[in-house]
Amino acid sequence: MSTTLSPPAAASSPPLFQMRNVSKRFPNGTLALEGMSLDCGDHEFISFLGPSGCGKSTALRLVAGLTRISSGTLDWPQRPPPAAGQRALGFVFQEPTLMPWAKVFDNVWLPLKLAGVSRDAAAPVIQQVLEMVGLSRFADVYPRELSGGMKMRVSIARALVTQPRLLLMDEPFAALDEMTRIKLNNDLLAIWREHRFSVIFVTHSVYESVYLSSRIVVMAARPGRVIEQIVVDEPYPRGEEFRTSSRYNQHCMAVQQSLHGALGGQDIDH
Ligand SMILES: Nc1ncnc2c1ncn2[C@@H]1O[C@H](COP(=O)(O)OP(=O)(O)OP(=O)(O)O)[C@@H](O)[C@H]1O
Ligand SMILES: [Mg+2]
Repeated sequence: MSTTLSPPAAASSPPLFQMRNVSKRFPNGTLALEGMSLDCGDHEFISFLGPSGCGKSTALRLVAGLTRISSGTLDWPQRPPPAAGQRALGFVFQEPTLMPWAKVFDNVWLPLKLAGVSRDAAAPVIQQVLEMVGLSRFADVYPRELSGGMKMRVSIARALVTQPRLLLMDEPFAALDEMTRIKLNNDLLAIWREHRFSVIFVTHSVYESVYLSSRIVVMAARPGRVIEQIVVDEPYPRGEEFRTSSRYNQHCMAVQQSLHGALGGQDIDH
């Protein structure tokens, strides 16, 4: 059953990152995020869920260091020293943002190339991540030859090629059809379970957030803020049995109710 409580206490290791009372005001005066506090531990799967404009992307970009916070603190208590070719973060955008003139292999190589890793040295890890996302046979094709779901797989492979501790995903599957989305949800969970990084996953979908997450951060707009954090206390692996269970439905209803409060009665897409 969903329980509403503060984030679980960090077990043995300190949190990966710790946001305290973080606000973001853009130069035009918009208060995109107000007073957000969040701890993210190792191997968590956290979703940011809320209506358009509630600051989900802003919060994600703050964590990624793509935007500066206006007040509050964001700390990385573990401060992992990245090895050569490794980065603490991977980022997956809503659009796959692939280079159309480059083959799949070279698209995935990009972050390593930028880090100074040669094509030959990068080849084994590129092959490995392409295998992880189910595209090992597609290294030599151009993005135009791939379906939308496959392009998103390439984008995920590119984010994973640096072996990040934390994968940030901004509505990665929103543009995909239902069947492809379910398949990618399952494959993402399998990769996450095996490789034990943490994920922050932005979504509009109650169903997707409950299926994937160990914790859901419910947000509201104007100003963007956290309403509630809901723990989805269900074991992994999760599959069709969970998706069709009454417990899944109960979690969805609890999250829906929390969102409804956040929206003041308006509807949200799912
Ligand atoms: N660069 C910017 N300059 C000014 N205002 C911005 C900027 N980026 C975002 N905002 C505003 O900040 C608020 C939060 O935006 P954000 O993109 O984080 O919302 P979101 O929850 O990701 O929405 P969506 O679900 O539509 O993607 C919105 O009111 C938006 O208009
Ligand atoms: Mg957004």
